[in-house]
Amino acid sequence: MTHIIFNDKHIDLEEQQTVLSALLEQGHQIPNSCRAGVCQTCMMQALEGNVPAKAQEGLKDTLKAQGYFLACSCMPQEPLHVRTVDVNMLRSPATVIEHELFAEGVLHLRLKPSEAFDYRAGQYITLWKDSVLGRNYSLASVVELDDSIALHIRRIPDGVISNWLHDEIKVGDTVDIQAATGNCFYLPGSPEQNMLLAGTGTGLAPLIGIARDALRQGHEGDIHLLHGARQIDDLYLHDTLMNMAQEHPQFHYHANVLQAENITPPISKNPLMQQISEVAAEPADWRFYLCGDAPIVNTMKRNLFIAGASMTNIYSDPFVSANDV
Ligand code: FES
Repeated sequence: MTHIIFNDKHIDLEEQQTVLSALLEQGHQIPNSCRAGVCQTCMMQALEGNVPAKAQEGLKDTLKAQGYFLACSCMPQEPLHVRTVDVNMLRSPATVIEHELFAEGVLHLRLKPSEAFDYRAGQYITLWKDSVLGRNYSLASVVELDDSIALHIRRIPDGVISNWLHDEIKVGDTVDIQAATGNCFYLPGSPEQNMLLAGTGTGLAPLIGIARDALRQGHEGDIHLLHGARQIDDLYLHDTLMNMAQEHPQFHYHANVLQAENITPPISKNPLMQQISEVAAEPADWRFYLCGDAPIVNTMKRNLFIAGASMTNIYSDPFVSANDV
């Protein structure tokens, strides 16, 4: 057993217990969201002691060098003196310039950051309701093409932040956002490689950003985007994607719904996985981007790997369930 020192107090850690869990257990308010080492909202700083490498995965070298780490993935092997960080250092305000429903339960939110905000299409940001409540949302915009950032917000039953964004936030309001992160974005290395982008629900947000970015960067191979939904009305960018397919010969749009009658191509009732294997029958040389509900993303990833796709060609962003803590 080891311990941490926080606010001059010793707090014992159980075997395999994270710093975040120990602090929350003691009643400390530590910002957090994914609790999986991806969103970076639980960042803290070590003043003394060795931080395990796993707790700094994904952080910039400059932050690592200053002892910053992710409390939710930090299980120290020896005493660690830690402190919270000034959250304002990591956040910046953005003004809401568009707030409208794409479809029932799916909000289109456009934000104008107050200062230059760099990101790669397909990454995600953390949007803060206050000093401790934050939630990750994928970017649907492309920094080189759009003068604001776009998010697709699915209303989550009992989701504190999604309901706040849907019901209370309005054009002209200011919200705090935190730097983009994530490694699910387009890399221009193999322009002739065929790409398949598949996702369900608002998993479409990063996918449309990645597709637009690939087209912007002159991707020459085929780009197939597959959007899975429960019913026709949930295909909330159907017309936009149909137009993209008309404008760009190498871009192909496929839709998949569970409940529908009298549907015509590109909408199908075939399961998403079946559509994927029809489009990429020989996946070994393809590049894949998979986004949306985590169980579906993980199933797609596993099936593609079994079918012969290379893991190095699979980029994924499984949306961990809402955890508006
Ligand atoms: Fe720790 Fe997300 S990285 S809560």
